[in-house]
Amino acid sequence: MQSVLSGMRPTGKLHLGHLEGVLKSYVDMQDKYNCYFMVADWHALTTDYEKPGQIPENTIEMFKDWLSAGLNPEKAVMFVQSAVKEHAELFLLLSLITPVPWLERNPTYKEQRQELTTKDLSTFGFLGYPVLQAGDILLYMAAKVPIGEDQRPHLELTREIARRFNNYYGELFPEPQEILTQYPKLPGLDGRKMSKSYNNAIYISDDAETVNKKAGQMFTDPAKVRKNDPGHPENCVVCAFHKIYNAAECGIVEAECRSGARGCVDCKKAVAVKINERLQPIRDRRAEIDKNPEKIKGMIEDGNKRARVTAEATMKEVRKRMNLG
Ligand code: TRP
Ligand code: SF4
Repeated sequence: MQSVLSGMRPTGKLHLGHLEGVLKSYVDMQDKYNCYFMVADWHALTTDYEKPGQIPENTIEMFKDWLSAGLNPEKAVMFVQSAVKEHAELFLLLSLITPVPWLERNPTYKEQRQELTTKDLSTFGFLGYPVLQAGDILLYMAAKVPIGEDQRPHLELTREIARRFNNYYGELFPEPQEILTQYPKLPGLDGRKMSKSYNNAIYISDDAETVNKKAGQMFTDPAKVRKNDPGHPENCVVCAFHKIYNAAECGIVEAECRSGARGCVDCKKAVAVKINERLQPIRDRRAEIDKNPEKIKGMIEDGNKRARVTAEATMKEVRKRMNLG
């Protein structure tokens, strides 16, 4: 069976955009591949090194989101990057063979340097971010890597680094392929992209009451002022949610909106019911997990151990090839 590795930085709780995009594909993949899912806490530190305070809580929160969304520790290895020191060792060795210009011309790097102006990112570690990521992937000999579009340059670099290693030291690493996770057409409450920083997200850990309240805040077609005015569902956030969570009735919703037969208040209530139906099994699993908080620590420890076995086997071979130890 082929291996899959993916990672997420523990920057906070996950929202519906994550659930319908990347998490859904993780859950599908755990039955088809030998999966490794990693909390990339060292990667989080490349940008948040001044304030590492949130990382432990966020790591636990991330595992809870994963498990409640349906990831199963009996199928996939879930672990924490910093608990498997081989990641640091491979990062070091790969950094020896990675030319700096490869990193400097990385478009994701250039973009982030421009955008994240409140942080000093002129660090060695931030420049080396993709080398750390290449190490994550190659340690597990991953053939496939589910990622978002913005991570594509990092996968390209991973392949280039793998090729260079194989050239110098003999064929060892497979060149991993990306699986692009489709970001669903799921806007935030205000119609912009759903994002924690815009404060417009519905979280997968939100309770039903919170979802009802947030559905009430969704932006609707501004041309539809009164209940019986005809509306334009294509200009409405509520309708975008009907498309995803109420696909069967979406045609009716649109037609009734256009004809003026449908009021926004009822339309929002109906969509909240559907979102809550989607989230209920996830909430039930989370409640189960919360009954026994000690268990999650044991589960993480177990995942770390299993990751180490693979990582250690790869490093033995890497050291041998590089004439170390
Ligand atoms: N850089 C990825 C991100 O921002 C997280 C990540 C770290 C990752 N290591 C990885 C993703 C390895 C895929 C494979 O979101
Ligand atoms: Fe949006 Fe529904 Fe109101 Fe139409 S009726 S504008 S789809 S909330």
